[in-house]
Amino acid sequence: MNRMKSNAPHPTVRTTLTPGFLGTLSLTLALLLPLMLTAPAARAAARTKPLTVGFAQVGAESAWRTAETESIKGEASKRGITLKFSDAQGKQENQIKAVRGFIAQGVDAIILAPVVETGWEPVLRDAKRARIPVVLVDRGIKVSDDSLFATLIASDFIAEGRMAAEWLSRKLNGKGNIVELQGTPGAAPAIDRKKGFEAGIASAPGLKIIASQSGDFRRATGKEVMEALLKKHGTEIQAVYAHNDDMAIGAIQAIEESGRKPGSEVVVVSIDGVRGAFESMVAGKLNCTVECNPLLGPLAYDAVEKAVAGEKLPRKTVVPDRVYEQSTARASIGSRQY
Ligand code: AHR
Repeated sequence: MNRMKSNAPHPTVRTTLTPGFLGTLSLTLALLLPLMLTAPAARAAARTKPLTVGFAQVGAESAWRTAETESIKGEASKRGITLKFSDAQGKQENQIKAVRGFIAQGVDAIILAPVVETGWEPVLRDAKRARIPVVLVDRGIKVSDDSLFATLIASDFIAEGRMAAEWLSRKLNGKGNIVELQGTPGAAPAIDRKKGFEAGIASAPGLKIIASQSGDFRRATGKEVMEALLKKHGTEIQAVYAHNDDMAIGAIQAIEESGRKPGSEVVVVSIDGVRGAFESMVAGKLNCTVECNPLLGPLAYDAVEKAVAGEKLPRKTVVPDRVYEQSTARASIGSRQY
């Protein structure tokens, strides 16, 4: 019966297709079309209450992390967004508590920079049940259901590790002993920067990683680990690959205190591109840094606003990075924003 009805010409349609009706129709369409085409944006514009967003940050382990926090806080105040900030001090359980707290407070969206890759499903399921979109920034996670987060905005850490390896391979003419200072165990940048670096040196069998340990992305830990490695391996070490600049700067101090010259006797390459790394390159101590952009505030809130308006977002937005070396550090240091 339904099918018959729908196949029959609709009387109202036939009788209303008069010039007068068409005029009204086009006027109505002219008024409605912009709203229909930009429904989420229009809904966002129509929102009277400012957004409230919770940001669950890893901690303050590095200069990069501080720059990211400032970018996300600064952009919130530019956009009139109320930001609830939580510093997890490097502990996943604190981040999970913070996310649960944001859910309980009924925030409009959550920005999460996850300390490690795994263990997020239960809390993200709670956020989904509460219809609170979660935008991941800077680090990815492993979940069986991708709909548990709205989108991820991050660098390609594997590519960063590969760029560092390729640069080092050229610098050492494919031959030398390397010690690796890894980031926080279980964190996406630690896992992927290791993977990318190993892939990058695979074509140079003369390059060997003779030791690899975590320095937890911290300057002081990087220094301590490097001191121990220097005691054990001494002049065997020709290069240091650090997963971030802070650990490299700590390692540089350890190398100097051991009586060797970082930047010449020991080549040092790291990742992040923070101001301290540029200063160290200008001083001739750090050889190279691969940039990892922490200024994610604008992209994060663009994503938050779209997600809150019900727009579907890409699974991942990759932030582009590039290599900076000693020879050009002086020319670029003035334009660094972090
Ligand atoms: O997730 C990005 C990494 O985390 C940065 O390289 C490092 O400095 C930070 O702590």
